[in-house]
Amino acid sequence: MTLRFHNISKTFGYQKVLDRVSYAFGTGLYALHGSNGIGKSTLLSILAGILEPDAGEIEVAGHSLHSAPLEAKARLSYVPDKCPIYPFMTGCELLQFVARAKGTLICPDVEALLESFALGAYLNTRFGQMSLGTQKKTMLASAWIGQPSVMLMDESSNGLDLATRDVLIARIRQMREKALILISTHDAEFAQSTGAEVLPFSKLHGPLMRSHECRRGPPAHERAAGHCCIDPENGAVE
Ligand SMILES: Nc1ncnc2c1ncn2[C@@H]1O[C@H](COP(=O)(O)OP(=O)(O)O)[C@@H](O)[C@H]1O
Ligand SMILES: [Mg+2]
Repeated sequence: MTLRFHNISKTFGYQKVLDRVSYAFGTGLYALHGSNGIGKSTLLSILAGILEPDAGEIEVAGHSLHSAPLEAKARLSYVPDKCPIYPFMTGCELLQFVARAKGTLICPDVEALLESFALGAYLNTRFGQMSLGTQKKTMLASAWIGQPSVMLMDESSNGLDLATRDVLIARIRQMREKALILISTHDAEFAQSTGAEVLPFSKLHGPLMRSHECRRGPPAHERAAGHCCIDPENGAVE
């Protein structure tokens, strides 16, 4: 399994947000879907090793996030919804920092992505001076460093212009054969364009479930005909 988590629980104060949440993924592309406040961002930051769960186990490409955090984290990338980068850091410094932390270099593939995102002019800009879209693009580009096995992206299309969105969709589609990509998004059209398998948050609860038990997105011919697996009006999965 590329990503496996078992019985993850998390309580904030008196609010139990995650209660023994479990799932196991191979490679592929999944869009985590659920109402606001249900716990998607909390789960993704726990899976990324940013937030400590109260209980539960997480394995990334066979490495325990708890007992082998360096090995596990070297194989994953995480793009949070909000930008957590120091305002004094430049785009270039972030990319170099991520590459160093992963023990790798910024390869031509990542350079090509920076070019597709038209980030060249902003690499020496500090995060505090970047627009939200530029912050997001720089964080997204950094997620491709080190050929991760697991990519976690929280509201990945938020704040992106149409050209960037199309580049991201194409990139995500390319990666789905090689890695597990788990995105959370309110953007039904984005999820549909990537061809992601929609995974209702409610499916994560209870006993360990296999990935094929979740509902698949529509086949290509239905997508082309405008069918949608997330109802854009009320967010319900059809
Ligand atoms: N650091 C925190 N402290 C207290 N409550 C939090 C914290 N982070 C998230 N929450 C609460 O946990 C719930 C789930 O939040 P979140 O994971 O952001 O949901 P989603 O991403 O699905 O919209 C919300 O009620 C939110 O207010
Ligand atoms: Mg969220």
